[in-house]
Amino acid sequence: MIANKKEPCNNYSVLITGGSGMVGRYLTSFLLEKGYTVSHLSRFSNLFGKVRVFRWDPEKEILDPSALENTDCIIHLAGANIGEKRWTEKRREEIIRSRVDSANLLLNTVIINRFPLKAFISASATGYYGSITSETIFTEEMGPGEDFTGIVCQKWEEAAEKFAKSGIRTVKLRTAVVLEKNCAVLKKLQLTEPFGILPVPGSGKQYFPWIHINDLCRIYIKAVEDSQMNGAFNACAPEQITFIDFVKKYAELTGKKKIITKVPAVLLKIAFGKMSEIILQGSRVSSSKLISAGFTFDFPTMDKALKNILGS
Ligand SMILES: NC(=O)c1ccc[n+]([C@@H]2O[C@H](COP(=O)([O-])OP(=O)(O)OC[C@H]3O[C@@H](n4cnc5c(N)ncnc54)[C@H](OP(=O)(O)O)[C@@H]3O)[C@@H](O)[C@H]2O)c1
Repeated sequence: MIANKKEPCNNYSVLITGGSGMVGRYLTSFLLEKGYTVSHLSRFSNLFGKVRVFRWDPEKEILDPSALENTDCIIHLAGANIGEKRWTEKRREEIIRSRVDSANLLLNTVIINRFPLKAFISASATGYYGSITSETIFTEEMGPGEDFTGIVCQKWEEAAEKFAKSGIRTVKLRTAVVLEKNCAVLKKLQLTEPFGILPVPGSGKQYFPWIHINDLCRIYIKAVEDSQMNGAFNACAPEQITFIDFVKKYAELTGKKKIITKVPAVLLKIAFGKMSEIILQGSRVSSSKLISAGFTFDFPTMDKALKNILGS
């Protein structure tokens, strides 16, 4: 992991919900490296070791207010994983409620206790625009999609917007697929790689919005530090590539000849049900707003990102 140079940040205190997850663990290391005071809100005891962990149970609306005392900024990452299990009715509800009810609980705690929170930064996803393959380049002022990911992100962002309505600076980061060495998409390629095969879902022509984990952590830190940042930002790399081009780049950088095999959409639909949408479809998403806000990507291209992650 590449962390930023240590700089003083006046002991600014950041509370991360879901800080035990993939993004949270990297982000915590980046923030600590910069001198921030970091704590986590988790449903479990200290899984991470590096920071103070406060327990909460958003489902039962249990949150000890002392967790938010002296907090300058909340980063809301908590939420049931969208790509982990089939989207049964129960799972759909869990995916939405784990994001929305938890944000509501945080806001109520801030308001009741009159905590002087300076900023609320919420994860969202590029799925906001829906799982759509087209040549449209989605920008932040465009409306949400009507499919499940569109609905989840819309409700998630509406919950975040309540902080803005309460006068708290609010940023929503519509995040693309986050690439790091243990992420699900690379793990799936590595599963069949020893047999000389790399699978591609469906036609492979769907776009694959992505971001390197280090850039995502730097965007979160910019959102914490830059008081001009407000509202929604697409957190995705500027290079828009299709899934098959991503796999071809992976094959090129990992050496040895490999066969790229298209997995028929029908098989994925049988295996994953409606959830297969998120791998069979993919949109072109613009990062222009973030760049205009002054952000510079360390990993703007897939070539650079994969070379870093694969250590090649
Ligand atoms: N990774 C990506 O490619 C990607 C892309 C777009 C958007 N995002 C969003 O960014 C956020 C962070 O992503 P991530 O990859 O770090 O996610 P992750 O590894 O799945 O971690 C999410 C964390 O949320 C908490 N959580 C899980 N289920 C929950 C539930 N039912 N109720 C309350 N909390 C729950 C867990 O923390 P505790 O167990 O400690 O409570 C977990 O560690 C997520 O909201 C995700 O949807 C991620």
